Amino acid sequence: MEILIQPDARTAARLTAHIVARALGARPTLVLGLATGRTMIPVYAEWVRLHREKGLDFSQCTTFNLDEFIGLHPDHPGSFHAYMREHLFSKVNLDPRRIHLPDGMAPDLEAECAAYERAIREAGGIDIQLLGIGRDGHIGFNEPLSALLSRTRQKALTLQTLQDNVDPFGRLDAMPRRAITMGVGTILEARRCLVLVTGEDKAEILARAVEGPITAMVTASALQWHPRCTVVVDQEAATRLQGRSYYEWLYRHEPEWLPYHAEFPPADPVPSDAPNL
Ligand code: GLP
Repeated sequence: MEILIQPDARTAARLTAHIVARALGARPTLVLGLATGRTMIPVYAEWVRLHREKGLDFSQCTTFNLDEFIGLHPDHPGSFHAYMREHLFSKVNLDPRRIHLPDGMAPDLEAECAAYERAIREAGGIDIQLLGIGRDGHIGFNEPLSALLSRTRQKALTLQTLQDNVDPFGRLDAMPRRAITMGVGTILEARRCLVLVTGEDKAEILARAVEGPITAMVTASALQWHPRCTVVVDQEAATRLQGRSYYEWLYRHEPEWLPYHAEFPPADPVPSDAPNL
């Protein structure tokens, strides 16, 4: 795992968008895992800008979203289908036949989950999985105590998660209580995981996820097992990280990140009061 600290949420989101854009430029048939949530909105806005202004081409790209609420019509404004249409699908040249989200209205939900896993496999697996972190440390909708080898399945949501997602529904009792989500095991099979975490309300859970023990209580902590996981954060989310100055050092010196420095300069100087490992 590596952690890239950026000065603010917008820059962190733009760097995340550019890491994917570069991979897509190199391999237009990329299979992308997509996430929802407020954190991702500026990532999609940057892809839209790169598509319009720089010709970033999504036409051969395949996408799989992490999750969807159960029992919600895709046209419902609270659905992740609607979120994705609003922020990305209606604004770039993705081929609708290559876009995948779990169908929360499927008559046989178990079969839908198995079919989703099959579709990912048939697409050759996910090249880059984009992830946010919920306030309880979930990835996708893998709530605390989710099996760390779980596959796509139905999952009941915690009250905290319902509250965090209530906005488009207006009130809690109008919300679905359950969702279909890729499992932690499904996510760990992506060839690369790219996590974006911003804002001071995520500082504590981020530190537990990346520097704490691997535990099903914080499913994002399972990403510590992943051989290629990059976590992009802003300064606010980074405040509880013990290894801050080390992470900044790595961003400055690892050759992989050098091409990004012109647009996303490393912090200078590394703050002298930052705790080291
Ligand atoms: C939902 C999604 C997660 C996302 C989380 C964070 O729970 N299922 O994939 O990471 O929201 O949302 P936000 O970015 O709004 O904090």
